[in-house]
Amino acid sequence: MRVVATYNIKGGVGKTSAAVNLGYLAARDGLRTLIWDLDPQGSATYLFRVKPKVKGGGKALVAGRRTLDEAIKATDFDRLDLMPADFSYRNLDLDLDSTKRPTDRLRRLVAPLADEYELVILDCPPSVSLVSENVVRASHVLLVPLIPAVLSLRTFDQLTHFVAGLPGRTPTVLAFLSMVDRRKKAHRELVERLPYEREFVVPESIPNLSVIEQMARHRAPVSAFAPRSPAAAAYEALWARLRSGLADVR
Ligand SMILES: Nc1ncnc2c1ncn2[C@@H]1O[C@H](COP(=O)(O)OP(=O)(O)OP(=O)(O)O)[C@@H](O)[C@H]1O
Ligand SMILES: [Mg+2]
Repeated sequence: MRVVATYNIKGGVGKTSAAVNLGYLAARDGLRTLIWDLDPQGSATYLFRVKPKVKGGGKALVAGRRTLDEAIKATDFDRLDLMPADFSYRNLDLDLDSTKRPTDRLRRLVAPLADEYELVILDCPPSVSLVSENVVRASHVLLVPLIPAVLSLRTFDQLTHFVAGLPGRTPTVLAFLSMVDRRKKAHRELVERLPYEREFVVPESIPNLSVIEQMARHRAPVSAFAPRSPAAAAYEALWARLRSGLADVR
């Protein structure tokens, strides 16, 4: 089992869109896949038409009174399951803090799923917090959407510092440019340059396309309702990159 987190300190950069589309493509490719929606906003849960409710909330999970298994829901797609969000996840930091090993809890919660899933995708809320530290520890790969802008690169550098500064095994960071507007010269330039300048940035990028926003209307991954769109092709290329990245991790 491999664990991937879509993660960024910044909000609204395309984390959930990536989690949902890549999860769908992984399952279509034959991997038994679980997406865990860790964001109390519950966007991934909404996109899969699942009710955002976990009995006992995050507290019961973290305290070990309930297992992930009891709360996991099937999606409309073969081999793809969802662990829904719950509004109580907004207190997840506090819940984690009250456990014995507050930074290792998420990894331990996910570990028993190894028999059932080949891939687990954690869709994270935007922040640097105890939840983030848990996510980093639980993951083999951090998949980071980057908006092509200078400030967003600064945040990315903060993120790589944060990850490098954590004790123990640290995950592989794979960043990709997200919401790229080809009409903007600055965007085009960064797409050309960044994969060469920063070792973590992959050459595959996701363009800014309204069909990606339409996921919220269709409540489905792009490849499910617009399989021949450029957006679907972009996520497919990113999935191929991630799949080969996953093959390399120990
Ligand atoms: N490539 C894209 N082109 C156009 N719109 C996009 C693209 N990616 C995401 N969006 C839209 O931008 C908004 C934010 O995207 P998304 O929810 O994936 O980001 P996020 O990083 O998960 O946000 P949050 O930090 O709130 O969890 C959504 O309305 C989504 O439909
Ligand atoms: Mg999100």
